Amino acid sequence: MQRREFLSTAFAVAAAGLAPRSARASSALVEVLLNEPIGTIAPELQGHFTEHIGEVIYNGIWVGEDSKIPNVGGIRKALVDHMRQLHAPVIRWPGGCFADSYNWRDGVGPRAQRPVRTNFWDNSTQLCKAPDGPQKYDPNTFGTAEFMRFCRLCGSQPYVAANVRSLTPHDFDEWVEYCNSPPGSTTLAQTRANDGSRDPYNVIYWGIGNESWGCGGDFRPEDYAVEFSRFTSWVPDYGLKLRFIGSGPGAGPQDPQVSWTRGFLETLLTKRPHLIERMYGLSMHYYCGSTGKGNSLQFSTDEWYQMLTQADAMDPLVNQHWQAMGDYDTEHKAKLVVDEWGAWHQGPILGPAYLFSYVPSLRDALVTAITLDIFNRHADKLAMCNDAQLVNNINTLFLAREERFVPTTIFHVFDMYKSHQGGRSLRLVCDAPGVSYGAGKTLWGLAGSASQHGKTLVLTVVNPHTSEPRETEIELRGGEARSAQVTVLTDSDIHAHNDFDHPEAVVPQTQPAGLSGSRFVWTFKPASVTKLEIELA
Ligand code: AHR
Repeated sequence: MQRREFLSTAFAVAAAGLAPRSARASSALVEVLLNEPIGTIAPELQGHFTEHIGEVIYNGIWVGEDSKIPNVGGIRKALVDHMRQLHAPVIRWPGGCFADSYNWRDGVGPRAQRPVRTNFWDNSTQLCKAPDGPQKYDPNTFGTAEFMRFCRLCGSQPYVAANVRSLTPHDFDEWVEYCNSPPGSTTLAQTRANDGSRDPYNVIYWGIGNESWGCGGDFRPEDYAVEFSRFTSWVPDYGLKLRFIGSGPGAGPQDPQVSWTRGFLETLLTKRPHLIERMYGLSMHYYCGSTGKGNSLQFSTDEWYQMLTQADAMDPLVNQHWQAMGDYDTEHKAKLVVDEWGAWHQGPILGPAYLFSYVPSLRDALVTAITLDIFNRHADKLAMCNDAQLVNNINTLFLAREERFVPTTIFHVFDMYKSHQGGRSLRLVCDAPGVSYGAGKTLWGLAGSASQHGKTLVLTVVNPHTSEPRETEIELRGGEARSAQVTVLTDSDIHAHNDFDHPEAVVPQTQPAGLSGSRFVWTFKPASVTKLEIELA
């Protein structure tokens, strides 16, 4: 352990009034501080992202009305059923980088008459056309009306990303008009009615571009600030409070890109501080990458720990950007929106047309749990987070190929963590021996998050150690357990995964936990994600 890390843990332990590790029966201690709330965990922190890329939209979501695959008006039924199970709060669309090449007009009107366009991704060679390669010519069968229907079926809010690179603020205004104008009011309201919805979609969340420092226009932050003010100026609101999300940094531990956050906010707000009212949130993207050969299923124990350490870098990145935002927005009116995150492995891909796809393993389940725990612990700073991406892509919850459909290890973590949605995030102190790996590197021994929902306390904890169970004293400060149930996701093989041939190789197990009182001992299994749902006395 680094001296700084040791001191901060020691300080946290002392501040919480804990017994030193040597004086305790167990080697580890988790303290839930029921009287130290952090903030409400917005359900939107467990949001999703879908882009016209590879097999996400076509084949993943859209199978067509005439398909033999069970569907609801062309949308894959198994996907809808699983999204409802997750209480999926919000879905982002149509990109990603694709958003800044997308003309929404191509995706409205009678489906048979919509134009076929070159998709943004991998359009460089004739030889790689789908289904034999990743190139897709987008038929625009799945457009705004289909996306809105997908959201409604899932019970989710839509979050739409505008095209800042290649369309104008006028086009954006008209997209808002198509979505939100009252029934019978305008020509675009009529187009929407012809597309199946007389009633407005009432879309509140609008992204102003995507990765505007890169695929979204290669802007400098100062120039993007000008675009942000143009695109958000006098947008018709149809009586709704629209929530605009600025395109923020593509952050990483080596280069957090705080200069983007600062440059953008400095230009936007200096001399015009009132413009902060236009910004509901500032987006941040962080992909924790891969390790070794980049293969999602082939990695060493060291690469397992390295990957989890990379996932953990989300925590300082949130802090760094939040602090920078506070220098310009001292009341923190705008929140952070992590609208793309996940582990990005290079392969193996599911098939030639499945751009950026891979089969996630137990390692990716822990990456996801670590990340969702970080989001819970920063519930006061974050308004929304969107896992990239929902199906057949990076950090994917589902694999879909024709009629086959598999919930991945990542889905199961989301399913476990949905119990945190809407809860009061509580401060948690974890004190456990760190795990040493590689040449002198250390990862913490336990980490997690806690939330309270009336008389129910939800505690989620990750034990990253590949072989050692962690016996742990759990102390509820300011409360007492009456009963508890535990759900555990793990496997004896750290490479375990669900795929088309083994759809249920890794599934969580739930059972009564037999715990009571304000202090009890629980043993966290190796390489596991654990959820304790505790009924308080
Ligand atoms: O999620 C895939 C791509 O990653 C997105 O289109 C882009 O925003 C990011 O770079």
